[in-house]
Amino acid sequence: MMLWKNKNTVTGLSTGIHKHDKFNTWFLVTDASTYVVGATAEGYLVNLHWGARLEQLDNLNATLNTDFSSQDPAITMAKEELPIFGGLRYRENALKIELPDGTRELNLLYAGDANVTGNHLDLHLRDGNHTDLLVTLHYEVDAENDIIRRSYTVRNGLKKSINISKALTAAWHPPTTLGRDDKREIVTLSGEWNAETNVETTVLRPGVRHVVESTRGFTAHASFPYFALRSVADEISNGEQDVYFGTLAWSGGWEISAQMNPEGEVRIAGGIQHLDFGWTLEHGESFTTPVFAAGYTNEGMSGARKRLPRHTRKYQKKNVKTQQKDYNPVLYNSWEAVAFNVTAEKQLELVEKAAPLGVELFVIDDGWFGARDNDSAGLGDWYVNKDKFPNGVKPIADRAHALGMKFGIWFEPEGVNPNSDLYRAHPEWAFHYPGIPRYEARNELSLNLGIPEVRDYLYKRLHTIIKENDVDYIKWDMNRPFAEVSMLHDNGRNPREAYVHIVNGYYDLVDRLKKDFPDLWIESCSSGGGRMDMGIVERVDQVWTSDNTRPDGRLFIQYGASLFLPPRVMYGWVTESGNDDNVKIPLSFRFHTSFMGGLGIGSNLNDFKGTDMEETKNWIKLYKELRPVIQDGDLDWLVPPSRLSDLTAVTQATAQDRSEAVVLAFRHRSPFNRPIPKVRLRNLEAKQMYQVRIWLEDATKTEDTYEMSGALLMAQGISLPGLNSGMFRSALVHVKKA
Ligand code: DGJ
Repeated sequence: MMLWKNKNTVTGLSTGIHKHDKFNTWFLVTDASTYVVGATAEGYLVNLHWGARLEQLDNLNATLNTDFSSQDPAITMAKEELPIFGGLRYRENALKIELPDGTRELNLLYAGDANVTGNHLDLHLRDGNHTDLLVTLHYEVDAENDIIRRSYTVRNGLKKSINISKALTAAWHPPTTLGRDDKREIVTLSGEWNAETNVETTVLRPGVRHVVESTRGFTAHASFPYFALRSVADEISNGEQDVYFGTLAWSGGWEISAQMNPEGEVRIAGGIQHLDFGWTLEHGESFTTPVFAAGYTNEGMSGARKRLPRHTRKYQKKNVKTQQKDYNPVLYNSWEAVAFNVTAEKQLELVEKAAPLGVELFVIDDGWFGARDNDSAGLGDWYVNKDKFPNGVKPIADRAHALGMKFGIWFEPEGVNPNSDLYRAHPEWAFHYPGIPRYEARNELSLNLGIPEVRDYLYKRLHTIIKENDVDYIKWDMNRPFAEVSMLHDNGRNPREAYVHIVNGYYDLVDRLKKDFPDLWIESCSSGGGRMDMGIVERVDQVWTSDNTRPDGRLFIQYGASLFLPPRVMYGWVTESGNDDNVKIPLSFRFHTSFMGGLGIGSNLNDFKGTDMEETKNWIKLYKELRPVIQDGDLDWLVPPSRLSDLTAVTQATAQDRSEAVVLAFRHRSPFNRPIPKVRLRNLEAKQMYQVRIWLEDATKTEDTYEMSGALLMAQGISLPGLNSGMFRSALVHVKKA
């Protein structure tokens, strides 16, 4: 279906996909951007525009420049949509294919064939040298979030098998304009266990390829599949508000690189990690890459921070049934309180204490199965430990249900301890090359989810536990990086395919469970936030953001994670972490930190003293009242957590219709007792009056309430004298249309 009308003179192009009637150019139009791709006369597909929305089908004819020099061939400089390995291409390439005779040369050209279906565009390419080798580029427009989703499919029509040794999803080319983009900076996310999603900014330099990646076989903590590219302010310019940003929908090893040439032209390329990757396509087979979604905004990082989480949320809501009806629940999990020491008696005690607090989901974490008293045994044996739970876990589930809570349980399906019945029965199911020492991490090996029998075993065990115990939620953990990854079973497949099979196996199991139990909630966890990516968030309900539950540490972690995660999926527990003899972080500060996303309680309720129970109950009640804005709003940072030496940070969650907002302000300490400046809000309606309510340490008592116009809230802001002195001071502010 072609959506264009009145030839090329139309003004006010509608959102969607339009083809130019004279040229092979396609205009992908979103609310505030346009992405134009076109085929040159030779058949190369190149990007012709990415940025501000165009109003008509401009005559953007795709041509290759002449070679800049014999050393700088035109095709190297071209903004190719899918730069392949081969020919005179020397910038980052996305696709490398090897034929049985050793040829590693492709000549992919537009085949004169395209399909537009709604918001989807498919462009078909054919290899000029081997015409039965076909590649289809897929584009999908998310108009309201100014995002394009890309992937492609390689089809082998040759009579022989071919090997793909690199299959990055896409190359993106943010434009460069003289005087506007002279100095460009890429924003990425680094990290490690207990300190995920640190925001890093790096100025791009010509001749240097900047790469963020995971070589660990899963998303991992070291970097996160996210980028944002922006111009940097200098003496004469303020820096542009144009930001290009994107993320990968992939939970396996991944890479995103940025490369700039001396003219400032940038290529961003990314997809499945190519190190040790391989895929063999027999005659008639095809391979499709995961999605790389990227967008444009002229509203700066704040605009990028709004669009990507909204986009992910849109697809999560579309795919995940549980996300279509309820808010994400307030949960209780005793892992930090009792670790492996879970017993029926103790968990029941906690159930009784959690319910009156307003907790909606009670979770038994690690330790309920097999011979699991610590992390050295039992992993893989998904049978209830009868010493700890003589009557099984069903009585706990029943009691939780009777008290109006959901019941959840922990699994680590991909892990296996060598000291387990499963490993003793099936050592061949774990990744390990025979004859060399095993590489254990946390005393475990990884099961090969590429093997159908492994998936079947896990499916059966998880299914049984869920069904027999009326489980409403599972926490799917994964506590080690992959090693020795190979197929290691006799199916004749290329051993390097295993990196993809394990991810597809993981998705397959998650999808099957979601299908069998449409009301089952799933949390993605990997030693904290090692598995936070759009690929899994489009399938599950929530993620465990970090094992670090210290509230001040959390500010930094959540600052980074909220660049790409919808607020509701980002879970934070209130615990005692960070308290010692000298420091007591108020419960209010802990709750306020966790009020940025999904709320959890991880304290040992048996150790609660004085008014702790009452206070917890009151904060949970207030959280539920504000939850629609917190979970469905846009989370923006008015002050990033690293700005001042005394650690000030302020967030604003704003309802999409701007009728209300929740502001959280934190001040770690005030060495000089100096007054904190006013906090200016954003994104409200200037002409509207808002009712302002401010809480400090007591959820039942507002410190201040007044009415103020949106204009004044944005121009001058709110005074927070409660943060002027003391340590770990925080405030919660709710503004709502009066
Ligand atoms: C790592 C997770 O991040 C923790 O929350 C906890 O579930 C432990 N694993 C259990 O082993």
